[in-house]
Amino acid sequence: MPKILDGVAIAAAIQQEVAEEVRALASQGIRPGLAAVLVGNVAASEIYVRNKVQSCANLGIFSELITPPATVTTGEMLALVAQLNARDEIDGILIQLPLPAQVDAKALLDAVDPAKDVDGFHPMNEGRLLAGRPALAPCTPAGIIEILKRSAIPISGQHAVVVGRSDIVGKPVALLLLHENATVTICHSKTRDLGAITRQADILVAAIGRPGFITPEMVKPGATVIDVGVNRITDRAEFDRFFAGDAKREATFARRGSTLVGDVHPKAFELAGAYTPVPGGVGPLTIAMLMANTVRAAKMRRGL
Ligand SMILES: NC(=O)c1ccc[n+]([C@@H]2O[C@H](COP(=O)([O-])OP(=O)(O)OC[C@H]3O[C@@H](n4cnc5c(N)ncnc54)[C@H](OP(=O)(O)O)[C@@H]3O)[C@@H](O)[C@H]2O)c1
Repeated sequence: MPKILDGVAIAAAIQQEVAEEVRALASQGIRPGLAAVLVGNVAASEIYVRNKVQSCANLGIFSELITPPATVTTGEMLALVAQLNARDEIDGILIQLPLPAQVDAKALLDAVDPAKDVDGFHPMNEGRLLAGRPALAPCTPAGIIEILKRSAIPISGQHAVVVGRSDIVGKPVALLLLHENATVTICHSKTRDLGAITRQADILVAAIGRPGFITPEMVKPGATVIDVGVNRITDRAEFDRFFAGDAKREATFARRGSTLVGDVHPKAFELAGAYTPVPGGVGPLTIAMLMANTVRAAKMRRGL
């Protein structure tokens, strides 16, 4: 039976460690603070940001939710970022993506003070990551490394295959795995004979954004499979393709009219030595690492 890598439990352990750090800082009169900027009314973003703000409250981190309207301009957003950069009680600035089309997202991310860039998206932090000197690493990739380490899955010398090369997940996780001494292959939509490469993976990371894309014949038996994908499916035929005969999923689907599937077909997990489920695998780590980065930023800014 493959081992299920329980992201909920691992995230809870990290959050507990973060809460302890927050208490220790409080005794020195320091309270880490996060500003979360949520533009407009994107339903999924609202849920993500609400969860992030709630996590801050649970851990004793100060948080402020700022909600500019969907009509906001790049200039107005740059002015907001400048204000947040200047405020001493704000250690972390989170700009929830995606932004409306009229806002220049790159200009905005570049304007965030790298010392407060808790998402790790500023070119300065990307450069540090490349050079093996990560200060604030992107949360989802950092969370993947935590899952592997805390589950005692060896990384050094293993062949890690990352499918996806986004700036947010694929590239940074490949770099982090490289720094942990894995032999890393990065695949993408132009990769030829993808299955021949994924089948070589001791650690397979799927960050594609296509439901159930990694099928059983693409997985080496015994591999560790990390499924980053979060895809909501509402179509009955698609549901049956992934979850036919799964009573628990059937109940969720009947109740909500949708369910989540990762980038890995559930049948492919059966071959794995260990895997992250969707939901409850990588997802919870993203928020836990955001909290950890906020505390880290608070300490680094004060030279602690
Ligand atoms: N759990 C979490 O907290 C979390 C966080 C972030 C993202 N996610 C999820 O992770 C998934 C990936 O997110 P992302 O932001 O990295 O997505 P993205 O920016 O859309 O990147 C997708 C990557 O997959 C590659 N790809 C697409 N089709 C392919 C194919 N047929 N064969 C091989 N590679 C293919 C693309 O290749 P090209 O570069 O060649 O186009 C691209 O590099 C999404 O489902 C997203 O929702 C989850």
